[in-house]
Amino acid sequence: MIKSRLFLFSCPVFFVLLTMLWTGCTEKKKHQEFVIGFSQCIGSDLWRKGMLEEMRMELSLHPDANFIYADADGNSKKQVEQVKKMLDQNIDLLIISPNEAQPLTQVVEEAYKKGIPVIVIDRKTASSLYTAYVGANNYQIGKMAAEYLGAAWKEKGNVIEVMGLPGSSPTIERQRGFADGLKPFKGLRISKEVYGDWLKPNAAAELMKIQPELRSASVIFAHNDVMASGAREIVKKLNLNPGLKIIGVDALSGKGAGLEMVSDGIIDASVLYPTGGKEAISTAFKILNKEPFSKENTLASLVIDPSNVELMKLQWNKIRSQQKDIERQQTLLDEQKVLFKDQQMVLNVTVITLVLAIVLGGLAFYSLLENRKINKNLEANNQEILSQRNQLIEMSEKAKLATEAKLNFFTNMSHEFRTPLTLILSPLEDLLKQEKIKALAGSNLKLIHKNVFRLLRLINQLIEYRKIEHAQMKIKVSENNLVEFIREISDSFQHNAQKRNIGLRMVAKKTELMAWFDANMLDKVIFNLLSNALKFSREHGTITVDVWQEAAFIYVSVEDNGAGMSEEDLLHVFEHFYQAEGSSTKGSGLGLSLSKELMRLHHGDIVVESIKNKRTRFVVSLPAGNAHFSEAEQRQEQLDKTELYEHARIYTTDLDEPAEQERDVAHPLKEQSILLIEDNPDLLNYLSQKLSAQYEVFTAADAEQGIAAAYREVPDLIISDIVLPGMSGRELTTQLKSDLRTSHIPIILLTAQGSLEQQIFGLESMADTYIVKPFNYDYLMASAKNLLKTRELLKAHYTSDISSSGKPQVSRSLDKKFLNDFAGIVEENLGNENFNVDDIAKTIGISRVQLYRKVKALLDCSITDYILNRRLKKASYLLINESYSIAEITYMVGFSTPNYFSTVFKSKYGVTPTEFKRNKAL
Ligand code: FRU
Repeated sequence: MIKSRLFLFSCPVFFVLLTMLWTGCTEKKKHQEFVIGFSQCIGSDLWRKGMLEEMRMELSLHPDANFIYADADGNSKKQVEQVKKMLDQNIDLLIISPNEAQPLTQVVEEAYKKGIPVIVIDRKTASSLYTAYVGANNYQIGKMAAEYLGAAWKEKGNVIEVMGLPGSSPTIERQRGFADGLKPFKGLRISKEVYGDWLKPNAAAELMKIQPELRSASVIFAHNDVMASGAREIVKKLNLNPGLKIIGVDALSGKGAGLEMVSDGIIDASVLYPTGGKEAISTAFKILNKEPFSKENTLASLVIDPSNVELMKLQWNKIRSQQKDIERQQTLLDEQKVLFKDQQMVLNVTVITLVLAIVLGGLAFYSLLENRKINKNLEANNQEILSQRNQLIEMSEKAKLATEAKLNFFTNMSHEFRTPLTLILSPLEDLLKQEKIKALAGSNLKLIHKNVFRLLRLINQLIEYRKIEHAQMKIKVSENNLVEFIREISDSFQHNAQKRNIGLRMVAKKTELMAWFDANMLDKVIFNLLSNALKFSREHGTITVDVWQEAAFIYVSVEDNGAGMSEEDLLHVFEHFYQAEGSSTKGSGLGLSLSKELMRLHHGDIVVESIKNKRTRFVVSLPAGNAHFSEAEQRQEQLDKTELYEHARIYTTDLDEPAEQERDVAHPLKEQSILLIEDNPDLLNYLSQKLSAQYEVFTAADAEQGIAAAYREVPDLIISDIVLPGMSGRELTTQLKSDLRTSHIPIILLTAQGSLEQQIFGLESMADTYIVKPFNYDYLMASAKNLLKTRELLKAHYTSDISSSGKPQVSRSLDKKFLNDFAGIVEENLGNENFNVDDIAKTIGISRVQLYRKVKALLDCSITDYILNRRLKKASYLLINESYSIAEITYMVGFSTPNYFSTVFKSKYGVTPTEFKRNKAL
């Protein structure tokens, strides 16, 4: 929840930041748009350097434009290549001052046709395919020079013309203008023309070649100032007429340039030829920005001579200083721009930081409020938990006290039980000694005797356990021969083991092993282990007892190859009141936990290992010597054998097998049979004995044996314990009730688990009755009788149905299904005289005997009687309702001859079939 709110809150912030970033990016793009390429025919002379400087000055007003400059060094071929390269670089506009007109025309046209604006500066190509021209009118320059000669100087005589590069447009135009300009002045004539290629040395060299013409010349017109200065040098060199006038073109400002030459008298005049660098750039931006511009930008010109040169110089210097100022300001501006950019960046960062700070502050405040809320809730929860904890502590304290009180009461009662038990035991043993009484009620008295000991043992264990719990049990050790001690205990079980065909062996290698122990305690441990081993051993099983020493410990092990324990049992076997699955009748759940405690008092231990259905091995360990016992714990007296004997009695008496009840052979075979399933041999024996008086009794010690007996004997009633080793009585009931062969047998479940839920649970397994232990025998008998009687009533009901042909009212679906199937099969085969019991058993899928018993149990008549009845019933129906002859009916109901049919029919209905038909017809 908080997370999503934070997200919503922070979204606009990121949006603002993104917008700022985006704006920054687009602004940058806007200024980087134009690429201008400038191709210069030759860049080395002052005039062209001035042109480039002017351009750069103007470009400084467009700082983000990209300017590409290439110098062709007076080589037209090279210039063509350079222009091509610029076109490949995707320039937006081309400025070109072509070296020669013709060679550059094609590439300039190409650029123009591609849509790239072309500005031609100073020199021209031979084509008019260009966007704009910037430069002075060269024709006019030539003409102005001629007019100046004629008008201002009133010169007469020969004129020598030093021209520029042949083929370059200024050369051509200036020559033409000069010639035209001279026309009005008849006293002036061009005596010689030479090409100086715009360069001083070339001009000087060419003039040297025409010395005779030079000597007769009164004026030299050079197409530029540098060539004019070359001419002056030659005039001087050849000592020619010092009054020879020289006029040049360009009138460039700066050191050694045209203006200075005029001022210094090196040349006499110069026609101003502006470079047009500034104009070219400003025109370029007008074109690129789609602003109005003029195609022909003719720059103004004038003649500079000594009369105006100083003014011009002044002007130029002023311009230059202004230029410098501008440059300085430009630099300053650039610096300011950088500063501005930096500051803008700082401002941006500050704004962003501020926004973030506000946002985060808001978030922090919000989460503070949320935290407060959560803390308040937590505090309230804590308070609640605290008070609940206090309540729990109080309650557990009360529960502890209550448990303590209960246990104390229980312990006290246990103590109280001992006296009456002893008082039962003594007279009982007296009675058992009297032969007459023994003969009369021996087995019952023995049963009482055994169970008194069992009770005594349980009570003793309970009291001892309580003593240990309250640390009231004090150990008293003495040194004794442990091997002998253990042998004596195992001997006391020997008789019992032999009776059950169990091999009980003592395998200790040594005959003497002295150990410190409390005999009164250790015997209980060993008795308990041995009695457990015997309880869980099968007939012909083996129990092995061993005593040995290993390092500082002495060990006693008791191992049996009996029932074994599950992994779950192994985990809990030493917990008090823990009872392993299916062993409820065999232990109190106290013996092993008591043994563990007794061994703890010995500073020893008891451990167990076991594999289910294979073996169990308990190992008791005692530290050797007596160093671990205090003075008070050691006693000097020798072992008291009487105690050992008493304990042996307590632990072994209840292991005694009940006396096998001999079957009363004289008694005739009983009408009804009961199957008893109970794992407590005493109870099994007792019940069996009691029930045998009236019923034939079958017994089984567990559910598996019980199920086998049920299928084998098909008894009239089953009484089974619920808690049995392995499969439970409940599962047994479910299985038998779902099996066609046994589904009809009523089942009584016996159990010590007496809660209502458990009873319902038992009944849900389809048991007919559920009786809680300890039960009253008469009540059990009454229940058994009742169930058998109900079964009788049912039988009577079914049997009467045979003749009434009504549907049997069988409540149990499986039995109902059986009866339906059975009746159906019989009905289908009434006409088949060879039809017999085997056919039905095979169709239903049970044995012949089981079929007999089932039909007898459910219908209380034999199968043949039933079939005969159905045949006669059908015959009577056919006699009344159909018009078949007696012979036909005889075969339809499966009789071999009409005579035999007639005899049987008469014996059932008292009349012959013919008479029966007649009577009914009336
Ligand atoms: C410089 C220059 C100038 C002249 C112009 C003609 O290279 O020679 O002196 O006026 O070129 O294009």
